[in-house]
Amino acid sequence: MSNYLIETNGLIKSFGNFKAVNGIDLKVPKGEIYGFLGPNGAGKSTTIRMLLGLIKPTQGMVQLFGRPLKSNRLDILKKVGSMVESPSYYGHLSAYENLNITRKILELPKSEVDRVLQVVRLTEVKDKLVKKFSLGMKQRLGIAQALLGNPELLLLDEPTNGLDPSGIHEIRDLIKRLPFETGMTVLVSSHILSEVELIADQVGVIQKGEMIFQGTLQDLRVKGSSTLIIDANPMERALVHIEQMGYTVQVRDGRLYIPEQTVDPAEMNKKLVMNNISVRHLSEHRDTLEEIFLSITREDLKR
Ligand SMILES: Nc1ncnc2c1ncn2[C@@H]1O[C@H](COP(=O)(O)OP(=O)(O)OP(=O)(O)O)[C@@H](O)[C@H]1O
Ligand SMILES: [Mg+2]
Repeated sequence: MSNYLIETNGLIKSFGNFKAVNGIDLKVPKGEIYGFLGPNGAGKSTTIRMLLGLIKPTQGMVQLFGRPLKSNRLDILKKVGSMVESPSYYGHLSAYENLNITRKILELPKSEVDRVLQVVRLTEVKDKLVKKFSLGMKQRLGIAQALLGNPELLLLDEPTNGLDPSGIHEIRDLIKRLPFETGMTVLVSSHILSEVELIADQVGVIQKGEMIFQGTLQDLRVKGSSTLIIDANPMERALVHIEQMGYTVQVRDGRLYIPEQTVDPAEMNKKLVMNNISVRHLSEHRDTLEEIFLSITREDLKR
């Protein structure tokens, strides 16, 4: 058996002749937190829906716990908790009553409702009607529902949607604890890298239905580039010298930019000074993870 708790092969979902998901090979290791990233419309929710058997793949295969979802659906889904996009509730019932309905369907003890309310910190408002809940409270209720029965696999589609910064922080801490405390495997989707950056072991980046990166955050970081930024006087002569050294230079806002090349900053400084060029500023800019993410997904909104 493979070590992946979720594995898909060439997963495709077409709506008419539009491919919302186009050949995804998802590989989520057991006991880890996997950040499923992509801009709006990339195909995250569609993929997650296929993982849950809520919609049928047009082509390709989904394996959960090393078994094809198609032939073991009910058995497998007993071990999976999920929240996909905005969860739906009975607004005229309280949080407790909503959870209790799901609890009964799953044939779990009553104590489970109290436990999950506690985990998402909704115990104090458990008797309030859900229609009076704020967006953040509804989001927590969705997570509580997903946690009922302590599933081995948790799929959360944009769980921090609509939360304020402290809410985001709290949910992040909550998700981070799960693999440690319960051995749970978690897939969490987001369109913001920084939301999963602090908790994910692995990330998959999807854009226009295709996986454009899958691996560790460290592997993603390596994809970034660095730029040397120089402010020198006289600039014209600096420009000529740097070009003579064989580098490509761009001039922007009165500064020189040497992109995507391995330049030793100390060596560069020395050469310019030796040629009677004074260097007022010299710095190296490394792409942040967010910049790398944005640059590989920049095409997104054209779809
Ligand atoms: N039932 C459907 N019929 C037709 N097109 C659909 C359907 N569901 C999704 N799509 C399209 O598939 C693409 C992917 O949608 P999906 O909801 O999976 O994106 P997403 O990554 O979850 O985006 P977001 O970050 O906005 O939630 C979009 O272009 C969307 O319009
Ligand atoms: Mg979505």
